[in-house]
Amino acid sequence: MTSLVLTVTETLRYRGALGQWSWVLHRITGLGVVFFLTLHVIDTSWAVFYPALYVEAIAIYQTPLFTIGEFALIAAVVYHALNGLRIAVIDFKPVWWKHQQRAAIYVLIGSVIICIPVFILMFGHVLDFYNDPNRQVLGLDVVIRSQIPFAIGIALAVVAAVVLAGLYGLIAGNGSKTAASKRKPQGSRIERFWWSYMRISGVLIVPLVFGHLAMMHVIQGVFDITAAGHTVVGTGLINESGTSVEFVASRWNALIAGIAVWRIYDFGLLALVVVHGFNGLRLVLTDYTNFSPTLKRAAVLFSVIGAVILLTLGSLALILTIDSTAIEIAKEAALELHP
Ligand code: HEM
Ligand code: HEM
Repeated sequence: MTSLVLTVTETLRYRGALGQWSWVLHRITGLGVVFFLTLHVIDTSWAVFYPALYVEAIAIYQTPLFTIGEFALIAAVVYHALNGLRIAVIDFKPVWWKHQQRAAIYVLIGSVIICIPVFILMFGHVLDFYNDPNRQVLGLDVVIRSQIPFAIGIALAVVAAVVLAGLYGLIAGNGSKTAASKRKPQGSRIERFWWSYMRISGVLIVPLVFGHLAMMHVIQGVFDITAAGHTVVGTGLINESGTSVEFVASRWNALIAGIAVWRIYDFGLLALVVVHGFNGLRLVLTDYTNFSPTLKRAAVLFSVIGAVILLTLGSLALILTIDSTAIEIAKEAALELHP
């Protein structure tokens, strides 16, 4: 706790180098995207497991609160990606360290330059939607109520991590100084691996995540996911029922040269982003729990539990098939939501 309070107060008090602010922004944007990703992978899996819930989830994405969040999400991904590339490139070439400050400014300018046209295009989709006299928007009460299970789930994962960490401490002990120092060489080898993983995965994520966002925001847009009669982005298939479930089914079932390209694409995105994001979460949480071995272990466990749940759920959804029954259920759910 003390280290968290210290970070916050010192960050606000120390108005020094731009590098320090870009570090804070990198951290906040990374955590924001991890939070979104958690909700996103869970609700995408509903397209397979609970089609009616998926219909509601996408209807919630089409409300004003989530539209604001969507703009913030894009800004966060763009800034985090550009700044992450800056870190990866400069760490790779230590002779460029002297250009850190200038590079941090370029990252800010680059983020604004990318966001302006993207926001204009996204705003076009928002305007089209709100100008449509047939549009139907869920109330804020429904939106807030639908997020309560997520909050409970996250709270339960925190409790499970703290209890397991406490039990482990009781059984194995928190480790003597000698044991810890014996473990150190292996620990630092693992940390070196994660240090490289964050940089390499970050670079690989860039085309995948920007491709995904271009399809879901710019080319088609969140509102078109439920547009009947539209061709589903990246496939030659028409979304006949105009349900979000048929949209996902068309993408995952589409074969290009006999290959389920979007399933493979989404699997690559899922694996890279979840491991990168949750390892990032671990780095941040362990930074602030250094004062207690139990809490530090709980932070690691929480990150591992989160990553395992998302990887399992996301992969199962990608392996299983969305059939015509799921689309029928989705049609009924859409009618119930917007009679
Ligand atoms: C509001 C913004 C977003 C929308 C509307 C959106 C939409 C979708 C949709 C419709 C799918 C279903 C599969 C498909 O059609 O390919 C999907 C899957 C996926 N998205 Fe997004 N996406 C958004 C942002 C993101 C971001 C920022 C990330 C990464 C950080 C991401 C990562 C994923 C992953 C990993 C999957 C596969 C999930 C699974 O295996 O169950 N998405 N997204
Ligand atoms: C789009 C391409 C991305 C790139 C190039 C990138 C790059 C990086 C790099 C290089 C680091 C390590 C920073 C350091 O060691 O100081 C990092 C940290 C992090 N990343 Fe990413 N990343 C990307 C996407 C993502 C996504 C999609 C998420 C969330 C799912 C995410 C979440 C995080 C978090 C939470 C951290 C830890 C921040 C900290 O330690 O302060 N990143 N990223």
